[in-house]
This record gives sequence, structure tokens and C-alpha cells, in this order.
Amino acid sequence: MCGIFAYAGDNDCRERLINGLKVLEYRGYDSAGLVAMDKNGKVFLEKAVGRVSALANEVDSRKEDSWTYNTGIAHTRWATHGWVTNENTHPHISSNDRFYIVHNGIIENYKELKSGLEKDHNFYSQTDTEVVAKLIESLYDDNLKTTMEQVAKKLVGAYSLAVIDTQNPWTIVWIKLWSPLIVGSAEDGIYISSDVNALASLAQSYTILEDHEMVVIEDKKYSIYMAGEQIERASETIDEAQKIDELGNFTSYTEKEIFDIPAVLKNAWSGRINFDEKTIQNETLDALWDLDVERICIISSGSSYYAWDMGCYFFRKFSGISSQTIISSEFLADTFIPDSKTLYIFLSQSGETADVRESMKIVKAKWCMTFGIVNVVGSTIARMADMWLYSHAGVEVGVASTKNVIAQVGVLLLMAMSLGSKRDMQISDVRDMISELSEIPDKISETLMQGPHIKKLAIKYSKYDHMFVLGRNYFYPVAGEASLKCKELSYIHCEAYSAGELKHGPLALVSPEFPTMVFNPMGKFYGKTISNVQEVAAREGLILWFISKNDTHKELYSDAIELPETSELLSVFTWLVSSYLFALYLAEALDRDVDKPRNLAKSVTVE
Ligand code: AGP
Ligand code: GLU
Repeated sequence: MCGIFAYAGDNDCRERLINGLKVLEYRGYDSAGLVAMDKNGKVFLEKAVGRVSALANEVDSRKEDSWTYNTGIAHTRWATHGWVTNENTHPHISSNDRFYIVHNGIIENYKELKSGLEKDHNFYSQTDTEVVAKLIESLYDDNLKTTMEQVAKKLVGAYSLAVIDTQNPWTIVWIKLWSPLIVGSAEDGIYISSDVNALASLAQSYTILEDHEMVVIEDKKYSIYMAGEQIERASETIDEAQKIDELGNFTSYTEKEIFDIPAVLKNAWSGRINFDEKTIQNETLDALWDLDVERICIISSGSSYYAWDMGCYFFRKFSGISSQTIISSEFLADTFIPDSKTLYIFLSQSGETADVRESMKIVKAKWCMTFGIVNVVGSTIARMADMWLYSHAGVEVGVASTKNVIAQVGVLLLMAMSLGSKRDMQISDVRDMISELSEIPDKISETLMQGPHIKKLAIKYSKYDHMFVLGRNYFYPVAGEASLKCKELSYIHCEAYSAGELKHGPLALVSPEFPTMVFNPMGKFYGKTISNVQEVAAREGLILWFISKNDTHKELYSDAIELPETSELLSVFTWLVSSYLFALYLAEALDRDVDKPRNLAKSVTVE
């Protein structure tokens, strides 16, 4: 995915475009570029490989150009087609230097289109996007709006795509299919953005575009079209929660978001759990009761997949409903057997992940019930779902998801308990569980106070290139999520494994240079995991343990992180948070870019 931002108004757009890209940079940060036009079509074009700050420096270096460029489009790229080079950086240009475009998405049929254009056009880049710039020129019929309608008919794939015409300076035309597009109205002009966050401090209201809709900005006003006809679309007011918090004294948004977790979890349960009456109160969850759900199938990616995997344990334990998780890209590769008695749940922080979105399209096409748990309000997956709950984690800037995963697990637990309380779960058990849930945010705060100790261990383990991360039962997905976080943030190869599986082969890798992290709470499987770990210790494998305070085998551990006393199941919260701190401090010890790890993007809106 990438971030795209545009402005048309009374003022010079260049600083506005740069500031918009800075907010959107978490969506992709390989390179960035912008093109601005004055009212006579005079063009200001700048591109830079690397972060938006590199582009800002290039723009600043041309300060002498104090002209007022009123209209502009900008792009921060996450490369899908073509290397990270200046030539492949957006905006892309038509052969006659008249049309400039920026694009979020993938044009799947670009090779076919390119072969039809190559006889009349020379291509300077490796991208799919440049093909569209040449296609616009080849189809231009003296009207940019009707031209873009013709262009859209020829494109296969996903796109949020803006074009400006140097011979019609006040005009920006935007078409959208599957990649997000938001229009914001402000006192100083019209803004367009890939997400609401970049508009939150600029616009008074915003409109989320639907697929196949087109926006035409002319003379600082915008109109929306569908199939060539102008339509009216309701606008919404900006919500405070959509604004990005200040970083404060934290060294990174990732660190801030980890320390925000106690408040985030309270927010995820707020208005849904009555801790005084010890009841769950939520209309959406109540409506689930009316569905005769016999099975639950959960489709998601990355960290959301691991959160769901934990959720499946909750559903089986509390509601007795058979539950399975499927990685969204694997769901797309498999044969879908629709089942009217299955509730298909889609989990996505961004609500824009293409693999999850495309999976939901397949399920909806077979008239099956879809339920979304999403963090970004108004995102595509939230709007496609038959029913949904927001995780209310607030804007998550760190590319590696932390606070939202905890919020997702919290919402999942709520769903499982709600369904369970309508089935065989004893009311007294629900009340006991709610009593303990009320203490979890404080237990997480207690865990966070172990930061200095965890940081010391992270510095020690940062010298290794490989690590196993072991867990069993609920802690197998916890190990999966911990290993993903360590990989994403520190680039150390961490491999999650079921504790009981290590002896079936992977044990061959264990050595003093290949340490093992183990999640082993005092509980039902504690003894079995101790046996697995003794197999590691017997081979001089270094062992970093995440343990309960009352652990009885402390002599076994090379190093240990003791966690606050909670029930085994609810310790997933504190143990995940401690693993996030460990991953954060690993990355800091290795001087990684914590908020924007290399090669990644916050939400992958391409398949
Ligand atoms: C999480 O740390 C990763 N950045 C990534 O795995 C992410 O969870 C995945 O891309 C799914 O994103 P989503 O929750 O927005 O769908
Ligand atoms: N496919 C285009 C490219 O590779 C756009 C990718 C994106 O959405 O960032 O440049």
C-alpha cells in the first residue's frame, strides 16, 4: 500500500502535501514525490528516494521558488512493481508531460496495456502506474472526467488514482477501486487522502468514497460521480479519536503505543462490560445470539491472525463452538465450501488488508454471515461486514501492531464470553471472569514497570541472529505473535514453535548460539513444557523464560521475566505485552527504525 494526498485551494500546496505525507508515511516509505501546479499550469515537481523528510529537504532546497502552487498531488510509496528508485517514484508522467498521476494499488493487467502502448510511448520506469499515465494520454478526449471513465474500464486490479492536467490547472480527478479514498472539505480548500488521520487536523468534514466512484475537483469544489452521473454522498465530521496523539517523551510511537495498552484495553471494553453489575452489555453481541451459529471461521493476516488464533481457544473454551483460523491469503488459495451455520469473522486493524478484503468478498458472494473486528472507523472491511465491532485502539502509527492486537484479543474474549453465557457458561463463571478482567489493565501496568529489566535482557539477546519462541495451547499463538514482533522490529530471525514439537526435528538447531524463548505459565501444561525445555537445556541452549511469579523451576532458566499473578488464560495479556517490550528493546539495541521497519507497510492493501 502507499499514502496519497492532494490539495486544491487558495494557498500554496507544497507544505500541505508534505505534512499530509508525513502523517500517511506509515502506509509505505520507500520513496516519495509530489507535483504542484499554479493557476496557469506552471509545474513544480520533486521526488526523493527514502523517507518523506528526504522529499521535504529537496522541496526546501528550492525555497527561491516562492510561486503559489494551488493544486497538487503527492505520494509516499511502498514498492510493488519496480525497484526503489527515483524513476519509479510517483508522480508518474504522460509522454507529452501534460498529465501527472499518483496511484495506490496494483494494475494487474499493466503488461498487456503496456504492450499496446509501447509503439507510441517510451517508458522510463518499471512500474505498473506509469502505464496508466500513458493510457490517459492515449485515450484523452478533451474531457479529463470522461477520459478517466474510459481509463477505469480498461484497468484490472486495485487503485486509488489521481490525475492532474497541466492544461486545466484547477482540476484533479480521482478514481477508486478497492484502495481507500477520503475527501475532506476545509476552509482553505479541498483535501484528498488515503485515510482520515491525515485530514483530522485540516478538514471539518470528510466523505469516504465507495468503489467505482470518481471525484472531480474543480475551482476548489468537489463533485462525486458514479457511472458518469453526479451523486450526493453523506459527509461525516472528524472524530477526535481519529487524530494522531503527540509522541510526548516516548522515543517512538511503538513505545508509546505499548505503554498506552492499559488504557486501550479499558477503552475496548468500555460500554461493553458493566464491571459493577458484572455483565456484558452490547447490542451487536446480543444480536449474535439470534444467529444459530454452529461454527466459527476466522480469516485474517499477520498479527491479527495470531490474535484470532488466541480467540479460537476462547471460543472453544467458553462457547463450545468449533472454531478455526485461516490465513487470509491461504483462504484465497483454497476451495471455499460455504456453510450457512458458520459465522465468518474477519479481523483487521486497518480494515484495508487486501487478502482479508478479497476473502470477505468471496464469503459474501455465497450469502454467508460476515462479522468484522476492525480498528479504523469507516474502513473498507468494516463497511463490507454484515455485523462489526470496532477494537477502539485509537490511531496506531507504529507499523508493528501492538496496542491494537491486545484490543483485538480483548474484544475476542468478550465475544466468546458473550456467546458462552448464552450457551453453557455458568453466570457465576462469567461474573468471576469479569471480576478478573477488571484487574488486567493494572496487571499490564505492573508488567510495564519491568521495562528496565526486560531492556537489559534484550540487550543481551540482541547479539544472536536466530531464536526459537516456544509456547503451548493459548501460548502457541502468543509465541507466534512474539516471534513476529521480534522479526518485524529487530530483524532477528525468530521462529515460533509449538513447545511439544521441537523434539520432532527443530531441536537439531538448538545450540549455545541459537537461544530459545519460552512462554510457560504455571498451569495445566507447565510440566510438559518444562520437559521440552530440559531437552533444550541438555544441549546447552540458552533459555529466556517468561514465567509466573510462583514458578517452581527457576534454577533451569538462563534468564527469566516474571509476570504478575493472573489466571493462566488471562496471562496472555501480560505475556504479550512483556514480549512487545522485549521486541522493542531488541530493536533499540540494534538501532533499528522502530516505527517504520524496513520493507514493511502498516497495512497491505495489495495481494
Ligand atoms: C503486524 O505487526 C504487522 N504489521 C502485520 O502482520 C499486520 O498485522 C498484517 O498486515 C495485518 O494487518 P491488518 O490487521 O491491518 O489487517
Ligand atoms: N504499484 C505501484 C508501485 O509499485 C503503487 C504501489 C503502492 O500502492 O504504493 O509504484
